[in-house]
Amino acid sequence: MRGPLSIITCNEKMKAIIDSIKQMADSNSSVMLIGETGTGKEIFAEYIHRISNRSQNSFIRIGLSAMPSDLMASELFGHEQGSFTSASRLKKGLFEVAHHGSIFLDDIDDVPLDIQAKLLRVLESREIMRVGGTKAIEVDIRLISASKVDLKELIRRNMFREDLFYRINVVPIEIPPLRERRDDIPLLTEHFLKLFSPDRHIDLSPEALVALINYSWPGNVRELRNIIQRVSLFCGKRIDLQDLPPELSKISPIVQIVDACKMCFLDGKYDFNQIVSCVESNLIKNALKKSGGNQSEAAKTLGLSLSTFRDKMRKHLFSAACKEK
Ligand SMILES: Nc1ncnc2c1ncn2[C@@H]1O[C@H](COP(=O)(O)OP(=O)(O)O)[C@@H](O)[C@H]1O
Ligand SMILES: [Mg+2]
Repeated sequence: MRGPLSIITCNEKMKAIIDSIKQMADSNSSVMLIGETGTGKEIFAEYIHRISNRSQNSFIRIGLSAMPSDLMASELFGHEQGSFTSASRLKKGLFEVAHHGSIFLDDIDDVPLDIQAKLLRVLESREIMRVGGTKAIEVDIRLISASKVDLKELIRRNMFREDLFYRINVVPIEIPPLRERRDDIPLLTEHFLKLFSPDRHIDLSPEALVALINYSWPGNVRELRNIIQRVSLFCGKRIDLQDLPPELSKISPIVQIVDACKMCFLDGKYDFNQIVSCVESNLIKNALKKSGGNQSEAAKTLGLSLSTFRDKMRKHLFSAACKEK
């Protein structure tokens, strides 16, 4: 048995998914996990197995996108000795190995149609036949599948069998992409920082955190994990905006500030004037920071005359220690 499995989340939608998984973990229903790459389909599949009454038996993950099509049947169902030229010995297939456990068919959307037909036969009869074999072998498995795309679209394009879809899609679970649960980003970041640097405490600057929260995360949690792993290798005690990869740190400061202020606005805690004042103040502080305190340069980056800039600066940063160079 591998170490503990932690699904980190504080998001309400994700918590509801975990609750529903807990309710049906012991049933034998086939589960379909749908989500973009890196959203956590595999970690959820293993979680389902671990809390189910099959947890003492095998959890077998089958990566269908990486498997050459001509080897698929023999990998999944096994082969008898001598059934083809290179089959010098009997080999059990993964379905047989998973007997009494759970099978995770990852990337089911990449399975060719001929294998889909064979899968359907196995799932209907709960029996397999090894390649070159004549005897049916009973298999008791719980099936969990994962797809990156909406299979109904593949069915429309005749790339996925509808009958197989209904077999494997008994309990569909959609895992939202990270950009739709940005509240998880600070928590996951903290989790990965502790995971990759267990012996030292690393802080995150507010600018870096805002950049992490605002990024679109096309690679989802996997991308966040990889970035934190890389950054934590090279940073000191604190991760600043410039420590992050360019796709995150190059977001214009104005976009970052406006996004941060948007959150206050949506919270409903501040009125219009307070938010406008906050945006203005942040823009001025940011421009001054970038120019190293040089007011003319800061005014230029904001497209303001020096006198307007100074008025605003006095209003917002009464006590700021910035000298004109
Ligand atoms: N909620 C989460 N909490 C902790 N780690 C997560 C979470 N979601 C994903 N991960 C980690 O992110 C990586 C990608 O997750 P994975 O389950 O392989 O995604 P998928 O199968 O959807 O591509 C893995 O290292 C996984 O452990
Ligand atoms: Mg995966």
